[in-house]
Amino acid sequence: MATRRNFLLGGSSAAAAALLLAACGGEGAGSTGGGAGGGGGEVDPADLTVGVAMPTQTYERWVADGNNIKKGLEDKGFTVDMQYADDDIPTQQQQIDQMVSNGVAALLIASIDGASLSAQLDAAAAANIPVIAYDRLLTDNENVSFYVTFDNYKVGVNQANALLFGLGLLDENFEEAADAPAGPLNIELFAGSLDDNNAHLFWQGAIDTLTPYIDAGTIAVPSGQMDIEQAATQRWEQETAQKRMENLLTTHYNGGEELHGVLAPADPLSRGIINALQNAGLGPTLSEGLPVVTGQDAEIASIKLIADDVQHSTIFKDTRNLAEQAIVATEAFLNGSEPEANDTETYDNGVKVVPSYLLEVQMVLASNYEEIMVDSGYYTQEQVDSGQL
Ligand code: BGC
Repeated sequence: MATRRNFLLGGSSAAAAALLLAACGGEGAGSTGGGAGGGGGEVDPADLTVGVAMPTQTYERWVADGNNIKKGLEDKGFTVDMQYADDDIPTQQQQIDQMVSNGVAALLIASIDGASLSAQLDAAAAANIPVIAYDRLLTDNENVSFYVTFDNYKVGVNQANALLFGLGLLDENFEEAADAPAGPLNIELFAGSLDDNNAHLFWQGAIDTLTPYIDAGTIAVPSGQMDIEQAATQRWEQETAQKRMENLLTTHYNGGEELHGVLAPADPLSRGIINALQNAGLGPTLSEGLPVVTGQDAEIASIKLIADDVQHSTIFKDTRNLAEQAIVATEAFLNGSEPEANDTETYDNGVKVVPSYLLEVQMVLASNYEEIMVDSGYYTQEQVDSGQL
């Protein structure tokens, strides 16, 4: 990782050549003796703009990601062109087209639909702009230089383990509980947006963990909706999840059947599902019979619900670390080197395996939210109490 404020150019990588071109304001790669195969030259990051394409501001995490990336890059002297796309694919395509034609030095992209940006990735490659996929894999195109994300499969495993713990099937050490109920315990399954590669990994991690219990008859899914296509929530919309939960309750739980738990892949969906459950007269708290609902992202409103005995769990992914990792990777490319990957096998985007850097995740429950979310300084107690940032 570069620690200098100035970047020494040299080497033969296309990225370095792109950097030099951008830094020279079109004077030409040879003008400072650098460029492909050339010598060295020093540029100031202030001459370089990094394009940051973000999906939406409706999920708290993307706002935090954006703020952290922008601040981190600016602290290092870069100029940042950051755009949110309101979850609209053509908007995101236009934003990235614009960044490419403006000659950004590097692109950080958190896509809406990972397969929808091929033309933009090709244009970036033609202009020698390195592209880093941010949290969501960019698929079906070879022009993806690197991927920074969390261990998405483990997110799903953790969600399922939290659910099994909440159902009393696992103990607090996540071992088979000695006093586990015989079941069958009824659960329903929700997935994220099918065009987000992460949704498939979350689902796979969770299903792999739940399947032995389903096979053993300890857990049942009364709706029978066990394919990701049936469980999916287009564009990760809260309203969609709430409606599906309402439909599941009226269709499959209208004869006194009890629902014990719901696998929910992200906090806004969890809250929509909880609304549907409470509106149907369940709970309103876990102690009063509200089904166990999982989550993801540790959004402030959900941490409050966890503190209030309503939502059972979430998964904390520290986006400060992800932003930092994205910046490390950006700097590496701009220095003409390759960022360090810790996974070179998992993320096959359909055309190539994208070298990746994965971060760890943490399960958050009523018993540890203070330690993980408050004592660490991520949220203040006042924020948790109010449920607002
Ligand atoms: C992210 C999750 C997020 C979801 C919805 C996923 O790609 O990894 O953290 O909850 O998108 O925005």
